[in-house]
Amino acid sequence: MTPRRHAPKVVLIGAGRVGFHLGQALFGQKINITQVFSRQLEKATFLAQKISAVGINDLTQVAPDADLYILAVKDDAIETVGRQIAEICAPEGLVVHTSGATPGAVLAGYFRHFGVFYPLQTFSMEKTPDFTQIPICVDANSPENLDFLQSLAQKLSPLFYHISDAQRAWLHVAAVFVNNFSNFMYFIGEKILDEENMTLE
Ligand SMILES: NC(=O)c1ccc[n+]([C@@H]2O[C@H](COP(=O)([O-])OP(=O)(O)OC[C@H]3O[C@@H](n4cnc5c(N)ncnc54)[C@H](OP(=O)(O)O)[C@@H]3O)[C@@H](O)[C@H]2O)c1
Repeated sequence: MTPRRHAPKVVLIGAGRVGFHLGQALFGQKINITQVFSRQLEKATFLAQKISAVGINDLTQVAPDADLYILAVKDDAIETVGRQIAEICAPEGLVVHTSGATPGAVLAGYFRHFGVFYPLQTFSMEKTPDFTQIPICVDANSPENLDFLQSLAQKLSPLFYHISDAQRAWLHVAAVFVNNFSNFMYFIGEKILDEENMTLE
């Protein structure tokens, strides 16, 4: 671990559901997020203003001197974005994605230091999550990087775990089942009440 990582500079790539909430949660723990990327500048700036960062909409503007790059982008964009920033990121920078279903190794061909920072939670823009209740699953390509991610996760939640790619994929599948099953039950409940001219509220 480099000494600078005790006060890391973070670049957040993605201002969607995870980026939006994770960025604010990290900022709440005094983590210095310098830039927020979205392809839509307005969206990047909206989040950036909340967390004292700068919004950007061009990956070539990504800072070359960050300690941590968080790729909170859609699963199928992780590798593409990784490839685009590979030449820009500091060689000592650690690059992580936030996906449950994507192996960390998807970043292996582009970065010396890579890992995963996966919050096991369904996020929506509308609801502010309580990160202290969210398990955070981390993995990394070296013990030093893992230490760093665990110490970062610990700032957000007491529930942080070192989880392998395979374990994370199963956790993700299980979470999808639990979520979808509960939503389906709500749907049936609402339907039953609807037939009797009542509502769940
Ligand atoms: N949603 C959840 O509940 C949840 C929970 C845990 C983990 N995750 C994981 O977290 C990651 C982000 O998910 P999310 O729910 O935050 O997704 P999201 O709300 O759909 O936001 C996706 C972000 O990815 C960006 N993006 C998509 N395609 C891109 C491309 N080709 N180039 C650059 N940026 C691109 C979008 O950019 P624009 O802003 O320009 O549209 C947006 O900022 C995924 O890996 C997902 O599996 C999601």
